[in-house]
Amino acid sequence: MLELNTVSKSYGENTVLDDVDLRIRDGETTVILGPSGSGKSTLLRIMDLLEVPESGSLRINDDAVTFGGRISDAQIRSIRRHSAMVFQGYNLFPNHTVLKNVALPPVLNGKLSASEADERARQLLDKVGLGERLSEYPDNLSGGQQQRVAIARVLALAPDYLLFDEPTSALDPELEAEVIKVLVDLAHENRSLIVVTHNIAFAQKVADRVIFLDDGHIGYDGAPAEFFASDNERIRRYLSTFSAI
Ligand SMILES: Nc1ncnc2c1ncn2[C@@H]1O[C@H](COP(=O)(O)OP(=O)(O)OP(=O)(O)O)[C@@H](O)[C@H]1O
Ligand SMILES: [Mg+2]
Repeated sequence: MLELNTVSKSYGENTVLDDVDLRIRDGETTVILGPSGSGKSTLLRIMDLLEVPESGSLRINDDAVTFGGRISDAQIRSIRRHSAMVFQGYNLFPNHTVLKNVALPPVLNGKLSASEADERARQLLDKVGLGERLSEYPDNLSGGQQQRVAIARVLALAPDYLLFDEPTSALDPELEAEVIKVLVDLAHENRSLIVVTHNIAFAQKVADRVIFLDDGHIGYDGAPAEFFASDNERIRRYLSTFSAI
C-alpha cells in the first residue's frame, strides 16, 4: 500500500497540493487526471521523493517518512526501493547499448548479478518488442522504441509501484500506439501502476481507478465509469476540453 496523508506542497506563494490524502491500492492501475498545472507531476514525484512537501507523510508498505523535518539518505533509499518512474523524456544512457540500459540498473543497486540481469533484460526487451535491437544505441531508435526501453528498464528493477508521468506525450500518434500497447499489457498483469496521462482513451482503457486533481485538491477518487459519466461541473469542463479537439 502506498499512502499519502495530509500532504501540502507550495512553490513560494503558489500552493500546488493542499492537504492531499491518497491511498493507492496494490495490483490496480490508478490513473491521475487533471488540467495542466493542477499538481499531477508534483504528486507523482512526491511518491518517489523527487519533490519533498512541507507537511504530511508518505508511507509505502513498511517504510514511512514524515515531512517538515530533515529526511535522511537512508529514508530516501528505503522509499525509493519500492518504486521506479518512467518520464516523458526517456532518460536512457546514450553511451550504453539497449541491453546494457536495461541490465545495468539492477546490478548497480545490488538487486541482481550481472548474468541474472543480462538474462532478465533480454526477456523484458523481448516483451516490449525490442528483442532484435539489443546491441543498438538509444540514438538509433525512434522515440517510441526508446520509451519501450525505458519501460523495460524500470521493469528490470521489479519495483512494487511503477510510476509513469505522461509516458507517451512526447510521441507521434503511431509511436504512441506501440508504447500504449505495452502499457495496456502491463496493466493487465495485476501490477501496481500509477499513471499520469492526458490521453483519455488510454485512461479509459486501463484505469481501475481515477484520481482527478483540480487545483491542488482531489476532485474525484473512485471508479472510472462514474468519473467519465460524472455530471460534476469541473469534471465535465475538463473532459469537454478533449472532445473539442
Ligand atoms: N520546480 C518548480 N518551481 C516552481 N513552481 C513549480 C515547480 N514545479 C511545478 N511548479 C508549479 O506547480 C504547479 C503544478 O505543477 P505540476 O507540474 O505538478 O502540474 P501538472 O498537473 O503535472 O501539469 P502538466 O499537465 O502541465 O504536466 C504549476 O503551477 C507549476 O508551475
Ligand atoms: Mg505534469
